[in-house]
Amino acid sequence: MGYKEIYEAWKSDPEAHWMGLAQSIDWIKAPSKALFDDNAPHYEWFADAEVNTCWNAVDRHVEAGNGDRVAIIHDSPITHSKHEITYTELRDRVASLAGALRAKGVEKGDRVVIYMPMIPEALEAMLACARLGAVHSVVFGGFAANELAVRIDDAKPKAIIAASCGLEPGRVVHYKPLLDGAIELSEHKPDFTVIFQREQEVAQLIEGRDFDWHGFQFGVEPAECVAVKGNDPLYILYTSGTTGQPKGVIRANGGHLVALDWTMNAIYGVKPGDVFWAASDVGWVVGHSYICYGPLIHGCTTIVFEGKPIGTPDAGTFWRVIEEHKVKVLFTAPTALRAIKREDPEGEYVTKYDISGLQSLFLAGERADPDTIEWAQKILNVPVIDHWWQTETGYAIAANPLGIDDLPVKIGSPSVAMPGYDVQILDEGGHPVGPNTLGAIAIKLPLPPGTLPGLWNAQDRFRSSYLTQFPGYYETGDAGMMDEDGYLYIMARTDDVINVAGHRLSTGGMEEVLAAHPDVAECAVIGVGDTLKGQLPMGFLCLNAGSTRDHGDVVKEVVTMVREKIGPVAAFKHALVVDRLPKTRSGKILRGTMVKIADGEDYKTPATIDDPAILEEITQSLSAMGYPKQGG
Ligand code: COA
Ligand code: AMP
Repeated sequence: MGYKEIYEAWKSDPEAHWMGLAQSIDWIKAPSKALFDDNAPHYEWFADAEVNTCWNAVDRHVEAGNGDRVAIIHDSPITHSKHEITYTELRDRVASLAGALRAKGVEKGDRVVIYMPMIPEALEAMLACARLGAVHSVVFGGFAANELAVRIDDAKPKAIIAASCGLEPGRVVHYKPLLDGAIELSEHKPDFTVIFQREQEVAQLIEGRDFDWHGFQFGVEPAECVAVKGNDPLYILYTSGTTGQPKGVIRANGGHLVALDWTMNAIYGVKPGDVFWAASDVGWVVGHSYICYGPLIHGCTTIVFEGKPIGTPDAGTFWRVIEEHKVKVLFTAPTALRAIKREDPEGEYVTKYDISGLQSLFLAGERADPDTIEWAQKILNVPVIDHWWQTETGYAIAANPLGIDDLPVKIGSPSVAMPGYDVQILDEGGHPVGPNTLGAIAIKLPLPPGTLPGLWNAQDRFRSSYLTQFPGYYETGDAGMMDEDGYLYIMARTDDVINVAGHRLSTGGMEEVLAAHPDVAECAVIGVGDTLKGQLPMGFLCLNAGSTRDHGDVVKEVVTMVREKIGPVAAFKHALVVDRLPKTRSGKILRGTMVKIADGEDYKTPATIDDPAILEEITQSLSAMGYPKQGG
C-alpha cells in the first residue's frame, strides 16, 4: 500500500491501523485495544498492555539471534576515538547498570535525571532506566546549572547520572561542577548521583552522595526487564515554552514503541541491520527518538557522534562518517548543512569520500531553506527530505515517507501529514481555512500513539497551552498553510519560541534573566534572522530612569547573565539599550514588528500602537548595529 491508501485506511479505522502496527512489538501482556478515550481530551494508548521498552530496544534482538550485530557506534573526532558495541554487549552493560541503580533503590516510576555528553553511556543510562520502569529525564549539556536545577526541582529525581565532562571543540565542559552547582541551587536533592569518569577530566566525588559508574556496578546482580503499563511514562523531556519554566513533555512506553518502530521503516526506509545516523544530541527529542530509541527498537545500528559538522576537524567529517560506518540514512538539522556549505560551497569534501551507501538525507528541527536543500541535493545526489515535528509529538507530523511511497518532493514543504495526524489550518475563530491560506496549524484530537499524553506535574498547563485555543484540536504553536495536494508549509511560531541552530529556546525565559539585572527597567528579546543558525536572540534593554551606567557594560553583563543562567546554547550575544519599547495601547510589546524591522522586512504599523515614533527609534538603533544584515 502507498501513502494515500495507508492514510485513508488509518482514517477509516484507526483502531485496526494501530493494533496492526502494534504486532511488531513484543508485549508482555498484549493490549486489548489501542485508544483509551474515557478521559478525553486526555487520551491514552495501549493503556492496558504490559511491556518493557528496553526489552524491545535491546534484549529481543539478542534473543532473536542478532546479538553480534552492532547496536551503537561511537565516533568522536574530538577524542579521536571510535568503538562499537554489539547488541549482546549493550544488553549486558545496561542490565548491569540497571542492577546497580536498583540496588541503590531506584524502582519503577522513580525519576532519574541524566546529564551526559555524546557518549554511548548516555544511551545506556536511558535504557537502564527503561529497563527498570524508571522515568528518565535527559538534560542537554549546553544548559547551565540553573536550568538543570529547575528540571531537578520539577522532576524530583531519586538519582542523577552524569559524566565528569563534556567536550566541545577547544573547550572542556565541566559537567561535575555544573551538577554540584545545580544540586546546591535546587530544593529537591537526589538520593545519590552516578558519575561516569572520562579520562579528559576526572571529577571529584562527594563521599556518600556520588558513586563511580564502574565502581557502583561491582558485584551487583544484573536487572531483568520490569513490566510497565503501556501508558506508564518512559521519559520526561523538558522543552521551551513561553515562560522560563520549561514544559516537561511526557512520553509513554506503549505508543512510543509502536510509532517509532513504524517510522523507521515507513518514513526513513531502513531495515534491521541498517546503519542510521541522527547527527543531533541526546538532550533533544531527535536524540531520544532517533539516536537512541527508534534505531534500536528497529534493530538498526545507531551512531553516537561527538563532534560538529565543521571544525572537527573539517567540513568533510559528516561524509567521512557516512563512508566509514556505511550510513544508509542521515538525519540532521539544516543549520549543520549551512555550516558545511559556508566552508565548502562546492562540496569538494564530498568527492574525497565514498558515500554511495547513503540512501537519503532527512532534515528537521527548523525551517529548511530551499537554498540549503538544493545544495545538499546537488552535492549528495540523494533525496533530501524535510520533515516537521516537535518535542511534543516525538516523531514526524508531516514527512515524505520514503519507505512506503515515492511522493514528489516540493522544496519548501515538509510534505504531507503522517497517518495518525489530521492536520488542519485554522483561522483565529478556529475554523478550517482553504488551501494556500495562512493560519494556525492544529491537529485534530486525539493525537496518535507516541505523542505527549500531558506535561509532567502540569496538566492544567497542558490544557491551556495546547488544547484550549481550538477546542477539539491540539495547537502546534506553528503557523503555516496547506496546498491543494495536502503539502504543508511551516512559516513561523505563533508564540515566543525561537529556533537557534535547531535548538528551541524561549525568548520569555531570556527576558526573565535580563529583567533581573538591577539597571534594567524593561526589556524584550526577539529572534532575528541569521544565515547560519536560522535565528539568533537579540535583547532590547530600557534602563532605569536616571541610570548613568555605560550601555556597553550593561550589555556585557546581561550577555554573561544569560550564559550563566540559561547556558551557552542560548547563543545570546547581542543586546542594545533603547529609550523605549514599542507597545500597543494595552501595553503589549510589539515583538513581531521589531523582528520585521531587524530582518528588513516590510511591516505595517499596527493600528493599536501606542506611539508610532518608537518604531523609528528602534529602526535607527538597529541600523547603528548593522541591522538589517545584508543578505540575512
Ligand atoms: N554542551 C556544552 N556546550 C554546548 C553543547 C553541549 N552539548 N552544545 C553546544 N554548546 C555550546 C557551544 O560550545 C557554543 O558555545 P560558545 O558560545 O562558547 O561557542 C554554544 O553552546 C552554541 O552552540 P551551537 O549552537 O552548537 O553553535 P556553534 O557555533 O558551536 O556551532 C553549528 C554551530 C551550526 C555547527 C552547530 O550549531 C550545529 O552543529 N548544529 C546542529 C544542530 C543540531 O544538531 N540540532 C539538534 C536538533 S536536530
Ligand atoms: P523542537 O520541539 O525542539 O523539535 O522544536 C519544534 C519546532 O521546531 C516546531 O514547532 C517548529 O517551529 C520547528 N520545526 C521543526 N521542524 C521543522 C521543519 N521541518 N520546518 C519548519 N520548522 C520546523
